[in-house]
Amino acid sequence: MTASRIWFPSLLHNPAFFSMSAPLTHTRPVPVKTFLYGVAYYPEHWPEAIRAGDPALFKAAGYNTVRMGEFAWDLIEPKPGSYDFTLFDETIARLAAAGIRTIFCTPTAAPPRWLSRDHPEILRIDADGHPQVHGSRQHASHFSPLFRDHSRRITAVLADHYKNNPHIIGWQTDNEFHCHFSQDHCLDAVAAFAEFLRAKFKGDINALNRVWGTAFWAQTYARFEDVVTPKNMRPTHLNPAHVLDYHRFLDHGVTAFQWEQVDILRAANPAWFVTHNGCFDSIDYRGAFTRDLDFLSYDSYPLFNYDPDSRIHDHAFNLDHVRSFSGNFMVMEQQSGPGGQSDYLHDTPEPGEMRRMSYASIARGADSLLLFRERSCPFGAEQYWCGVLDHDNVPRRRYREAAQLGAELARVGPAVLGTRVHMDIAISGGDFNAHYGHLALSHGLPTPRQAAQKAHRYFHAHGHAVGCIHPADSLAGVKLYLVTNYTIFDPAWLPGLQAWVEAGGVLVIGARTATKDLDNNVVTVPAPGVLRSLAGVTIADWGRQNNSEARPLSIIAAGRTATTALWYEQLTPEAGAEVVATWTSRHLAGSPAVTRRTLGKGAVYYVGTYFTDEMLAILTPLWAARHELPAAVSHPEGVEQIVRISPDRRLTFLVNHRDKPVTVQTPASGRNLITDQPVSGSLTLAAYDVAVILTCS
Ligand code: GAL
Repeated sequence: MTASRIWFPSLLHNPAFFSMSAPLTHTRPVPVKTFLYGVAYYPEHWPEAIRAGDPALFKAAGYNTVRMGEFAWDLIEPKPGSYDFTLFDETIARLAAAGIRTIFCTPTAAPPRWLSRDHPEILRIDADGHPQVHGSRQHASHFSPLFRDHSRRITAVLADHYKNNPHIIGWQTDNEFHCHFSQDHCLDAVAAFAEFLRAKFKGDINALNRVWGTAFWAQTYARFEDVVTPKNMRPTHLNPAHVLDYHRFLDHGVTAFQWEQVDILRAANPAWFVTHNGCFDSIDYRGAFTRDLDFLSYDSYPLFNYDPDSRIHDHAFNLDHVRSFSGNFMVMEQQSGPGGQSDYLHDTPEPGEMRRMSYASIARGADSLLLFRERSCPFGAEQYWCGVLDHDNVPRRRYREAAQLGAELARVGPAVLGTRVHMDIAISGGDFNAHYGHLALSHGLPTPRQAAQKAHRYFHAHGHAVGCIHPADSLAGVKLYLVTNYTIFDPAWLPGLQAWVEAGGVLVIGARTATKDLDNNVVTVPAPGVLRSLAGVTIADWGRQNNSEARPLSIIAAGRTATTALWYEQLTPEAGAEVVATWTSRHLAGSPAVTRRTLGKGAVYYVGTYFTDEMLAILTPLWAARHELPAAVSHPEGVEQIVRISPDRRLTFLVNHRDKPVTVQTPASGRNLITDQPVSGSLTLAAYDVAVILTCS
């Protein structure tokens, strides 16, 4: 046990610890000069006869980049301290000769067997007390000082070996941190949690007791060492403040683990970019984790959703959600074939769908994209996670489609770089405190993310230019902004929101927002706490709607009614706020349900329930009539329009998500970069086809 090696306090108090790169904002571009296009490549899975042919195959498909190495620690260091770079050196050089560059990975997602054999204390332990075992991946603890030593060592060895290799352009740290689970209860994690809390509460255990409210259920702690890592339902419900701090601790641990790698890579070669492919649990992607990177990457697998109708919307939301963390992103893995692991197998993308999904990602913020993976692997847990090429290496339709995409990206890529996604409407999307605060005590209500997704889906399905923006970010250019049911609402966001409203923005706040403080305790002032004066409202009464079908509650606004779900609040308008909608039934009849406070050139609406399609259907026309909400675009069902803009150009993406041809309206002039032909107002898109229309200003 190496728990005596304390590392958190020094990290928490050292301002130099986390690098402060460009501020995280949804408008931030990926700092690449060329649109990177290619595949995740696993040369360690193939014999020489196949590998020798790969550079030519990749080049012919238009690939300019591959990613390698994330699961190859066992090959690079087959025995402790004995390194073998032959395979990767040769592969990198061969690819370079074909004009293809490499993103290499720190291989810490899958440490070698000799490490877990000789040091089983590095294994993560789950909430059931089970140490993870060798045989899959992500089995080592980020809190293990020994594993961290090995992580730094292998990173330093790789960085040193490749620092002068001109064909490596950047690095991916590890692979999908926390993609299988995020909790860790190993002895090192428990000890590190105590140190994290000691640093957070500046050594004052009574401060922890006060903030966590440990007087409830005899939780009072005498020493930080006595604090346990929370395990849900063992035997029953947990303290929400304790749980939220545990998620913060998990985020801090993985951030520190990553930083050690980033620091080594940057010192070895400052020209390299460093990225990571998220987004998973217990990581604050608007925090130091992402600030330490040059940009965030995302792995896009839309076919996890088996419903062809809703997956279009889910894909759009997921992309908008990731963009809200730090701006444009790289799709490090874009689904190419059906994906399957032990107990599931996705739909096989039909001809054209791999390309359709790729363009949908690019339209919503991908500034580079690699397909997953080069070829289906005949062995291992992902034998049926199909790649661009099939197991037999015979180029078939997916390879031809990849090559088509490669040829098109030669025109589309340069036009895309430097643009950002245009939004008229934005939803609050993901916030770490709001999300994990909610999960700790959810009442079975949707997470802020799920609530955002519902509202996003409504606007997306109705043809609005909708996306996600974090409440701390700039809302410049956005007309309507919805904050969905963030019980934890950081008061630091208030001035920015208020200024945006005064300048003309329309802010819509969902029920329960700002009813908790940053420690995950309920505020003891009238709800909605810090939002009271901005919204001009207090909450007189509230309740969970558990059985909306049997006991429906409706609201009426401008003569139109909508049934509500999940939650009701009876509002008391203040500060000149007016009532926009009232409740129509039961003890609530006639009382305010939605209010509006005019402020400067804009307005703040408070909505005393959760957003449903019906509610948004009656409220959106009110917002549009009263404020300058741009009209939605109207295309045949299944056609998505997304616009990316820069000061000198506008790119209109039209994506036909359906398996039938459609005729769509286009801008009156411009050039379709897919066909390299001018447009004149309408065009026909084949099944799953795409147009990318460039209009210069
Ligand atoms: C990703 C992961 C890859 C591979 C792929 C298919 O989440 O990064 O390593 O597992 O999914 O499952």
